[in-house]
Amino acid sequence: MKNLFDVYPVYDIAPEKAFMAKVWDNNGKEYLDFYGGHGVISIGHTHPNYVKAITEQVNKIGFYSNSIINPIQEEFATKLAQTSGYDDYTVFLCNSGAEANENALKLASFHNGKSKVIAFNKAFHGRTSASVAVTDNKKIVAPINANHQVVFVPLNDIEAVKAEIANGDITAVIIEGIQGVGGLDQGTTTFFQELRNLCTQEGVVLILDEIQSGYGRSGKFFAHQHHQIKADIISMAKGMGNGFPIGGILISPEFKASYGLLGTTFGGNHLACAAAISVLDTMVADQLIENVNSINAYFMERIVEIPEIKEVKGRGLMLGVAFDFEIANLRKKLILEESIFTGSASQNNLLRVLPPLSITKEDIDFFINGLKNALTSL
Ligand SMILES: Cc1ncc(COP(=O)(O)O)c(C=O)c1O
Repeated sequence: MKNLFDVYPVYDIAPEKAFMAKVWDNNGKEYLDFYGGHGVISIGHTHPNYVKAITEQVNKIGFYSNSIINPIQEEFATKLAQTSGYDDYTVFLCNSGAEANENALKLASFHNGKSKVIAFNKAFHGRTSASVAVTDNKKIVAPINANHQVVFVPLNDIEAVKAEIANGDITAVIIEGIQGVGGLDQGTTTFFQELRNLCTQEGVVLILDEIQSGYGRSGKFFAHQHHQIKADIISMAKGMGNGFPIGGILISPEFKASYGLLGTTFGGNHLACAAAISVLDTMVADQLIENVNSINAYFMERIVEIPEIKEVKGRGLMLGVAFDFEIANLRKKLILEESIFTGSASQNNLLRVLPPLSITKEDIDFFINGLKNALTSL
């Protein structure tokens, strides 16, 4: 660790190999991955389609900049628009979630000429300048990021949103489809629909951050589609590349593109697009959204066997399992004694579960048994 800037607390485990929901460390010990490295693994670790697509592409051309024609970028944009139900939207590609939100906020501001943003309590949108400014965690906002104009309001409080918009200086509202880091809270259908109408009436851009909740994880392509609304801009990353770094935004036809308005060196490169196309194709071929819904139903059926669980939050395979005690020890036991990776959230009683979308009922059985064992020996 001597030469690594020490910002990450780590478990003493070094994964060396992985397949679908299984991970093996450098001692050959097998783990079940119920966290996907912060919800990144969508179709499954080293899925054969994914390995083939990346291998074939890197043998042809891995990278060129956006100053040439890139047919696989065009192929990906068309597939994404069709698969996500946003047929008439265009796509801008970048490299991470924070960068996707940064571009979404920038585009909103270019569009209506305003600069103040409404975000929600406990929101997490990333760590670049504007995206961290709209993140509700003062500890990670440096003075240089603190000059953005942002107001945080409670989730589901439409009157608070209305009052802020009435001041006339709001460029955008940014909201997660389901809050991730904040603890799996989500807007109600009424709230999302009222928010949509309000933004349309007042010329405010509605940005849906689907970086964690998107790409099938909630049981629909995007979590906000459970509420029958459309967003003006949707930001994506995580599951989009199944581990290959790629992010992007879907943009409503109301936004006008012009040369140089947005840009990036690496975004949308050949290798990233090959990875992302294989993810979309595999989601359809392996019927992963259907799998999310049937596995969620099985998870809910089995989870009632554990009386210590007070509540299950979230949707699909983006779940928070709530206890009436802090889960840090439980999480440690799960990984070290039961060989199961899980995650935490800012609410310290919540165990975050973000497995690959391709998990099976047997994987759920393994998780439930592991959780029972860990709870008895706490
Ligand atoms: C909802 C949400 N938005 C944005 C981000 C930032 O993504 P990245 O870490 O790829 O910059 C995250 C990451 O956890 C997230 O969960």
